[in-house]
Amino acid sequence: MIKRLIQKIKDGTALQILQELRWISRYSRRYLWAIGWYILLGILGTVISIAASVISKDIIDIVTGYRMGYAVQAGVIYVVMQLTTIGLKAAVARISVRVQLRVSQELRADIFRKILCAQWEPLSAYHSGDLLSRCSRDTDTVAGSIISWVPSLTVNSLQFVGTFLVLFWFDRTLALLALASAPVTLLLSVFLVKRIRKHSQQLRQIGSETTAFHAETFRNIQFIKAFHAIDAYCGKLTNIQQKHKEATLEHNRFSVLTSSILSLVGMVVGGVCCLWSAYRLWGNHITFGEMTLFLQMSGSLSGAFGALVSLVPAAITAATAAGRIMEITRLPAEEIHSKEQVDHLLQTGSGIGIRVEDVCFAYRSGKEVFQNVVFQAEPGEVVALVGPSGGGKTTLLRLMLGMMPVQAGSIQLCGGEPELKLCASASTRALFSYVPQDNTLFSGTIAENLRITNPNATNDMLRDALRMACADEFVSALPDGLDSRVGESGDGLSKGQIQRICIARALLSDAPVLLLDEATSALDVKTERTLLENIQHFRKGRTCIVTTHRPSVLSICQRAYLIQNQAVTQVEEGKLRQMMEEF
Ligand SMILES: Nc1ncnc2c1ncn2[C@@H]1O[C@H](COP(=O)(O)OP(=O)(O)OP(=O)(O)O)[C@@H](O)[C@H]1O
Ligand SMILES: [Mg+2]
Repeated sequence: MIKRLIQKIKDGTALQILQELRWISRYSRRYLWAIGWYILLGILGTVISIAASVISKDIIDIVTGYRMGYAVQAGVIYVVMQLTTIGLKAAVARISVRVQLRVSQELRADIFRKILCAQWEPLSAYHSGDLLSRCSRDTDTVAGSIISWVPSLTVNSLQFVGTFLVLFWFDRTLALLALASAPVTLLLSVFLVKRIRKHSQQLRQIGSETTAFHAETFRNIQFIKAFHAIDAYCGKLTNIQQKHKEATLEHNRFSVLTSSILSLVGMVVGGVCCLWSAYRLWGNHITFGEMTLFLQMSGSLSGAFGALVSLVPAAITAATAAGRIMEITRLPAEEIHSKEQVDHLLQTGSGIGIRVEDVCFAYRSGKEVFQNVVFQAEPGEVVALVGPSGGGKTTLLRLMLGMMPVQAGSIQLCGGEPELKLCASASTRALFSYVPQDNTLFSGTIAENLRITNPNATNDMLRDALRMACADEFVSALPDGLDSRVGESGDGLSKGQIQRICIARALLSDAPVLLLDEATSALDVKTERTLLENIQHFRKGRTCIVTTHRPSVLSICQRAYLIQNQAVTQVEEGKLRQMMEEF
């Protein structure tokens, strides 16, 4: 057993489990009061149940004529104890829901914030379904263990020691006999640590895959219908379910086997205790009451021991869940600093310039996107980024937003008098307003969506922004105007309408730099032209960077850069004019 333990420590499983349990225990510290309450109520319950057993022995002795004259007191004490036990159970049930809710909600809120504050690129390696599963199922498991594991350990240990002492007091041999199953149970639990861990990890992994599959399928229902792929997707679900079934059954086979072994051992030990008590009663060494007490106590002794041993798989399951959460919480967080300097830049009225100097960038996947590129936008300028699909236009905007660090060179935001230069990072993001290439409307009202960038905007300000984005007409025509509700990802609106609301939302922000990533790609030519003219006239000295595949957008730009083959080159004026004329 010791060899096995050393082996486990060496291969890292035990060490990892230990680290995960330490993480849970560090987290538990803020709930010490709740855990303390639990323990106190548990201890009270245990003490009462041991005392009730001793009293019931006396009651049997009274009934069988061994002890008279004590009947009324014993009866009263017994009833009071039973009533107290019922009261305690009710209190525990009530408190447990309150505490469980609090722990699980706070844990979820913590993890939610950590996910939002993590660096974008490492985080994007996780499927949103997987994140969802870690945020919900895994946090609930950890919250459950925070609230129940230590109290269970304390209460069951106390019950174990208390019962053992009482038994030992009455009959030493019986006390030792009742403990005979302990070595077998202990051995079994030590040998099974790795196996339980593997099963637990496997089941959670499949849980994540299932959530991810459902989320993706429901998001793409239109596509699935259009391609008559309903049967194919139902088949995919069957495959995932089959995988889940196999893993669950394997886990179940294993736990049924171990619990059968433990029950068998318990049965043999129980039988031996029973025989021993009968033998003692037969020899008139003990009374009927004592025999009942012995049987009850030896049962609750092995019960308490079993409960203590069952804390091992519970701890491993909690540790596995904690490990999955830790993986997310340990993703590098974005650092926010130089807030005062950013505020200073925000206050300069002369606009913000962007300087990209000798930047090299590759995604973590190894995909190289830029090699020593140079780009410049002067304060108040409108600059276009053009080029083939997959060239790196969106990537350059992400770098300006400080979503990912560059591997070489620098991206600086400059402004003010004397000039202040700040490197692009999470802190400088406050200088930007952004219309992403993808649809980013949330379910809710149009007004709620617009106020994301400016929570204090009045309805008049919302209408002005919608007017600039050529969206006021269709929004006013909706039955509830600004308060009309849109579904998930703007469901209920056309793609062009969604784009215009996204633009209005970006215009509502006072940020000095506006990034538009293919922001008008779904609009008809006439609306696009009006919208671009509006942006040009009302942008209040904002620097604008627009990525586009459409020459029409170039009409509002002072300069354009071509992004292709890992290079960024400025388009000559003649070529720019030619591109615009093609429109
Ligand atoms: N998260 C990512 N991880 C790894 N590679 C990526 C990631 N996002 C984009 N890429 C790769 O980087 C390159 C540039 O992509 P990007 O989205 O910047 O192109 P784009 O010019 O905006 O294209 P489009 O005009 O189609 O929007 C592409 O080859 C793409 O495959
Ligand atoms: Mg793009």
